[in-house]
Amino acid sequence: MSRISVITGGASGIGRATAEVLAEQGDIVVIADRDAEGAIRAAEELKVAGVTAHALALDVADDQGVEDFFDRVESEIGPVGAVVHAAGILQNAMTTERMDRAEADRIMDVNYRGTWSVNVAACRRMKARQAGAIVNLASINSFAALPIPSYNVSKVAVKALTEILAVEYGVHGIRVNAVGPTYTITPAIQARIDSGHRDPEAIRDSGALKILVRPRNIAEPIAFLLSDAAAAITGVTLPVDAGWAANTTYSSYVAPVEGFGQ
Ligand SMILES: NC(=O)c1ccc[n+]([C@@H]2O[C@H](COP(=O)([O-])OP(=O)(O)OC[C@H]3O[C@@H](n4cnc5c(N)ncnc54)[C@H](O)[C@@H]3O)[C@@H](O)[C@H]2O)c1
Repeated sequence: MSRISVITGGASGIGRATAEVLAEQGDIVVIADRDAEGAIRAAEELKVAGVTAHALALDVADDQGVEDFFDRVESEIGPVGAVVHAAGILQNAMTTERMDRAEADRIMDVNYRGTWSVNVAACRRMKARQAGAIVNLASINSFAALPIPSYNVSKVAVKALTEILAVEYGVHGIRVNAVGPTYTITPAIQARIDSGHRDPEAIRDSGALKILVRPRNIAEPIAFLLSDAAAAITGVTLPVDAGWAANTTYSSYVAPVEGFGQ
């Protein structure tokens, strides 16, 4: 029987690309998103390609809504074998002093509390079957301080929560990992490029590979972490950063590097 995979935030960007990759691999995919119409559109496009896809509305910041969602999926579709928690919101660069408190709280609510609710609800159900795998969306922000205060803190928290859950549920046969993408050209980032809040050339130059990372570049490693090929991997946040971390430290060296790039 095909694995049932839930993808939160599956209507757009990284979540949507992941739904495509998992469906291509034979999973039954459940696209869950606050954008109900976008979820339906994504599922319809997958169905045209001949796969089984469902679409359900979900606000990951609503604890009871998350519980009701998993109840509904398990009673109407079947036991959930994998979860990709890609629902999240970004923010623009600013100081903590400028940051609006309500926006800061909202980012924590969706990015951190949402990760908590979705993971706890999924793990509880997977525990009953002693099997399952989860991948959360952390970020390069999980490893470094960047000038996006609440978002940065939320992604550090996602990494820590991933490690805690991996230990709590490892004994029950459940693996919990995360990926830490660099700037990825999704609708959320494209909107910030269009509004002048991100520079595509600077994005390209920020990594060792000098490429623009696409949603599918993140989706494929997510699919790997959910697969049996990663049976001995849990509690990690896998950077998928086009060499951002290495490039950032290397290029901070305080003197010219003879021969570099020649
Ligand atoms: N794009 C990047 O550069 C980048 C880098 C690192 C990490 N990430 C993370 O990857 C994840 C996906 O980002 P993306 O760039 O694909 O964004 P996106 O905006 O393209 O997609 C995010 C999806 O999440 C949904 N969503 C937002 N709030 C929700 C909520 N409360 N409940 C349910 N669904 C909700 C949106 O409707 C949207 O469909 C986020 O967690 C983001 O922080 C993105």
